[in-house]
Amino acid sequence: MTHRNLVILTGAGISAESGVPTFRADDGLWLGHRIEDVATPEAFARDPARVQAFYNDRRRQLPTVHPNAAHQALAELAARWHGKILLVTQNVDDLHDRAHAATPPGPGFDLIHMHGDLLKAVCTATGRVCDWPGDLATDEASPHHPAGRLRPHIVWFGEMPLQMDRIEAALAHCDLFISIGTSGAVWPAAGFVETAARAGARTVELNLEPSLGRSRFDEGRYGPATEVVPGFFSDLI
Ligand code: OAD
Repeated sequence: MTHRNLVILTGAGISAESGVPTFRADDGLWLGHRIEDVATPEAFARDPARVQAFYNDRRRQLPTVHPNAAHQALAELAARWHGKILLVTQNVDDLHDRAHAATPPGPGFDLIHMHGDLLKAVCTATGRVCDWPGDLATDEASPHHPAGRLRPHIVWFGEMPLQMDRIEAALAHCDLFISIGTSGAVWPAAGFVETAARAGARTVELNLEPSLGRSRFDEGRYGPATEVVPGFFSDLI
């Protein structure tokens, strides 16, 4: 079967072998942090110092990690693919961005960070997004508005993921949906497979182990992303 329009959803599992902790593993990122203390708008209103410190730590880690063979295989696929690929990542690291910068994609490729981007900040007064590679101070003044402060450009629990219209449109027209390294615990991303299936797409899960959503996929391949992702893409090409 030949495919043209792909939607690829990635989660923390694709970055695990680069040294970025996943969220729900026993030693994962939420360990020692309650979601409601660091990843909600209410937490930021209550204790901005704690929330900024949590994301400053994550941001400081980025220069120490590098794209792995799974990010690289995806970048090579995007460079060679003749149809469309929408890569939707739940990850806020920049490992996909760096892999695609090193191996430029074809014209049919696009990348959406649906849960935000650690290397960006948002003005609380205007909603404007700007690049922010360093730490954010507790009360970081916004360059965009005198009354504004800067917060991490992260979609917190209770907030709407980014660019959902574009994602839904791509899902409705894809013929292959691939989910890589995500537990299927967080919505709306966990429901993308069903939207793609309704559009008639073949649906494939690539993960360390069967995820919570396994039964929603036509197929699954299991093992470390650095092995299963290059293997699956080389079969696809
Ligand atoms: P999770 O931590 O929930 O799930 C990571 C998945 O990756 C699990 O199913 C693991 O089995 C799998 N995995 C771990 N190591 C792997 C490896 N080396 N190769 C392949 N798979 C591996 O992370 P996400 O599903 O990404 O949201 O979490 C989704 C969202 O929950 C995150 O974007 C974050 C969090 O709350 C926000 O912060 C808004």
